[in-house]
Amino acid sequence: VLVEGMAGWGGFFFSLLNYKTEKYVIAENKRIGILFRLYQLAVWVFVVKKGYQEKEEAIQTSVITKLKGVTLTNVTETGPYLWSAEDYVIPPNGEQVFFIVTNYIETPNQRLGFCAESFKVPNGRCQSDEDCIEGEPVTAGHGIKTGLCLNSTGTCEIYAWCPVEYSKRPIEPLLREAENFTIYIKNFIRFPKFEFSKSNVLETSDEGYLKRCTHDSEKHPYCPIFHLKDLVSRTGHDFQEMAAKGGSVGILIKWICDLDKDYSYCNPQYSFTRLDINLNNSMTSGYNFRYARYYKDHNGETYRSLYKVYGIRFDIMVNGQGAFACDMILLYMMNTSSFYRERKFEIINFKYDKHVFTFTGFIDDLCHGWGQLTIN
Ligand SMILES: *[C@@H]1O[C@H](CO)[C@@H](O)[C@H](O)[C@H]1NC(C)=O
Repeated sequence: VLVEGMAGWGGFFFSLLNYKTEKYVIAENKRIGILFRLYQLAVWVFVVKKGYQEKEEAIQTSVITKLKGVTLTNVTETGPYLWSAEDYVIPPNGEQVFFIVTNYIETPNQRLGFCAESFKVPNGRCQSDEDCIEGEPVTAGHGIKTGLCLNSTGTCEIYAWCPVEYSKRPIEPLLREAENFTIYIKNFIRFPKFEFSKSNVLETSDEGYLKRCTHDSEKHPYCPIFHLKDLVSRTGHDFQEMAAKGGSVGILIKWICDLDKDYSYCNPQYSFTRLDINLNNSMTSGYNFRYARYYKDHNGETYRSLYKVYGIRFDIMVNGQGAFACDMILLYMMNTSSFYRERKFEIINFKYDKHVFTFTGFIDDLCHGWGQLTIN
């Protein structure tokens, strides 16, 4: 039994060598034998280590956004105003970074002229005319000093867009209903090295789909339409609270794609974070800026409405990584690709060795994804 066993082992051992011996007959094939062992190593790396894949982090991407929804504001001094996407999205051209107005202070009917500086501006306060040097701009203020100190306000008279902004920020956001606005985020990605591209929008012939759907990571992962309220609540903050003072939200779309697997395994993952806040200091949170709309009256004179707008700024960031095996196997196995090509052609031309033929055929099948693999 022992001898038989040894013979069995010996036979096995020799059959292993057999392969090699055959190679030794033709000196050229020694290299092929080594390649075969490298191939086994590569399979091991392939199955066990997954360390074989070539990665690409230079993802190419494009983002287009569109907001929908309208709301009516009704402020006592200025009357009703209808806000549609053209009014509340700044800039309105569907960018990757954009701002949505959720609250505002309007100062209507400003004209160029003379009026009192606001008491909120320290450099504008005065006790006498000497504090208001004619022609000097008010530091961090609204206009140019005229040389007069106004007793009624305790501030300098200025030449400015008058009257200067006076009212306070509404505590409740004026565009409360912005929580029901929807945002459509269209994202295309490409891994140029692997000639792979995909988008985050469902490929469907149903034209109504995007009109009805709302994003749901389980049921509708390819419906990129979000309600602003949900989107903000996924950052862990309350929409109405953020809408009053403004804020900044990051939308991250991540594509981690193992391109050896099927197309359907390469999917976008969304995450949301608030960017304008840190745990220790909420003084700096919030987001606002000013802009004006200009008009002409029937005499051809210009007047304007000044808006200080508070709102939420969205930054859409896309990152990703694609990994793909095949080129790397060839790289690991063959020192140079020209060597691989040389070998391959030689072998195919002479159809010399079935084993070798199968093994190169295998690599071919692996890397180009089709063809029948036969192992003898
Ligand atoms: C948003 O829409 C829901 C459902 O239609 C409604 O109940 C809610 O009051 C709306 N939000 C605001 C602030 O109007």
